[in-house]
Amino acid sequence: MAAVAVPTAPKAEPAPAVWNGVLTQEKVGLIQSSYAKIDEKIGALGFGKEFYTVLFEMAPAAQALFKSGREAQSKMFAGMLTTLVKNIDNADKVVPVLQALATRHVRYGVKEAHFPIVGAGLLATLEKVLATDFTPPVREAWTELYGITQTVMWAKMEEVIQGKPAE
Ligand code: HEM
Repeated sequence: MAAVAVPTAPKAEPAPAVWNGVLTQEKVGLIQSSYAKIDEKIGALGFGKEFYTVLFEMAPAAQALFKSGREAQSKMFAGMLTTLVKNIDNADKVVPVLQALATRHVRYGVKEAHFPIVGAGLLATLEKVLATDFTPPVREAWTELYGITQTVMWAKMEEVIQGKPAE
């Protein structure tokens, strides 16, 4: 007779299914090769700086949320993007990083409506830097990556917001 399994420790939270298998291998390749081109052209930090320039041109009101200096902010964003692109096909690694990032974004006062603005800023920066290398398939791949990033982050943010005691 089979023994009844008695769990002794709570299982780690499973990574949401949204990540695994969403991006095809081809899209993963397009994102990684285009990011390598960006790195060659202006470096990850250069891209981070460019991103904030473009974002604040597109949405000047968003500046009020950012308290750190532009340099520090660009560095942190570039570091996160590099981690994301490097580990893009490894949900076990990426999802917990994004969930922790999401929890911090609740504290920064970020709302769901901000995500499309930042997404548009990211795509516009990619277009500016990659120029003719920003082909329609490359755009599609990055759009999908941002979409799933946003889904994972917002799901966690909602959980944190709803779990908060009323203020
Ligand atoms: C895919 C989406 C996003 C990624 C990957 C991302 C990444 C980051 C990173 C790496 C940091 C550095 C601090 C930390 O690690 O906690 C940061 C800070 C911040 N992010 Fe985001 N972010 C995203 C979306 C957004 C959105 C939609 C907003 C809304 C405007 C936003 C606003 C902020 C603010 C206000 C800070 C703090 C800045 C400061 O300390 O001055 N982020 N973000």
